[in-house]
Amino acid sequence: MDNIKLDVSKALGFITQSAVDAGKQVAENANKRLENGSGKGNDFLGWLHLPSSIDSGRLADIEQAAERLRNNCEIVVIIGIGGSYLGAKAVIDALSNSFDWLQTNRRHPVIVYAGQNIGEDYLYELQELLQNRKFGIISISKSGTTTEPALAFRLLKTQLEAQQGKAAGKDAIICITDKSKGALRTLATQEGYSAFVIEDNIGGRYSVLSPVGLLPIAVAGFDIRKLVEGALGMEKSCGSAIPYDENIAAQYAVVRNELYQSGKKIEILVNFQPKLHYLSEWWKQLYGESEGKENRGIYPASVDFTTDLHSMGQWIQEGERTIFETIISIKEPNHTKLFPHDEVNLDGLNFLAGKRIDEVNKMARLGTLLAHVDGGVPNLEIEIPRLNEYYLGQLLYFFERACGISGYILDVNPFDQPGVEAYKKNMFALLEKPGYEVETAAIKKRLITNR
Ligand code: PA5
Repeated sequence: MDNIKLDVSKALGFITQSAVDAGKQVAENANKRLENGSGKGNDFLGWLHLPSSIDSGRLADIEQAAERLRNNCEIVVIIGIGGSYLGAKAVIDALSNSFDWLQTNRRHPVIVYAGQNIGEDYLYELQELLQNRKFGIISISKSGTTTEPALAFRLLKTQLEAQQGKAAGKDAIICITDKSKGALRTLATQEGYSAFVIEDNIGGRYSVLSPVGLLPIAVAGFDIRKLVEGALGMEKSCGSAIPYDENIAAQYAVVRNELYQSGKKIEILVNFQPKLHYLSEWWKQLYGESEGKENRGIYPASVDFTTDLHSMGQWIQEGERTIFETIISIKEPNHTKLFPHDEVNLDGLNFLAGKRIDEVNKMARLGTLLAHVDGGVPNLEIEIPRLNEYYLGQLLYFFERACGISGYILDVNPFDQPGVEAYKKNMFALLEKPGYEVETAAIKKRLITNR
């Protein structure tokens, strides 16, 4: 099997070779600390060997649960926020037909999402869509107490029971949560819902290769064994015993950190394939929550090209020179489409006749890359042979491993997210949640004095 490839050559002109050489040793040490569990956040390293430790029986349990939902439901709602839904959505969107929900020959339920926002219109319209349809729910929350998914779950579980009867919940609802703690675990136990466990040592944003990602991906009809197999290949090729020159996770971590030290504070993940939009959303969460702390960290941004060349393209070409790009390109599309010849040629496009649409896209990519490098934007390129489960598995693990190494190079704990609590405390105080009386009084006073 081929592998995904990393090309950093279009970034090396912006950093010194001596800096990269110094970075090699630092990255190898960081990777060793991940492996031997001696670095920061070492109680959250369960993801590191997920691909090699998940056994066939566990995968079969996930496939069976998925099959039950596939057979019984027209629609399945994935409830979760942040790491509890982004990995699944990234993979499902990347592999699905772009017009999946309109297909009449679908052999799997339509997948929709909830609990990732608190939009009243969104929830109203979702409940309207689910009216009189046979639907199922996968409710995912490691803590089991996160407000957004808990709120959506109460609404949808009530609707499901009203439409399909209380007993239907046992077949149509699956929870993924902590083994003993949290409200979702209590609910699952008391109501008798099937449940999968998120292990203590796996954080949300590193959980896509656990049941959190695998169950929804299997429900959507994709081969989770191939996904895990791809990730396993990458686990082997990014291990701490693999030297820097052969280890693309270490190379990516070093080059992006050297660019950061040279003043490139923003990394833009670029795709030329709209199906990868949510892969970027997953990547932003992974890197943003892992590195953005202690007043440090590259700001992860993303664009979908060529769409955004007509909006953000100007800024990227000529705006403040604090950015670098990482392009994800796909070597071979899954379909072939040739551009037709036209006798009259009123649109003047006959110079493209007989070419693949992908050739136009690839030339757009190369032209953009060269223009941006000329404009002072370092470029890294990740090439995926094809968009399928195997290579997506490689890509997901590559980004996770590189994120762990990169966080250690930056000297932060890449596995916590203390900053996420600040908004929750204010929200609970404003909503007068029991237990928050002191905070409620303080925040009300603050609003009156307008400070
Ligand atoms: O990466 C993380 O840990 C977070 O983004 C969580 O996944 C997110 O906050 C949801 O948390 P929970 O699964 O506890 O509801």
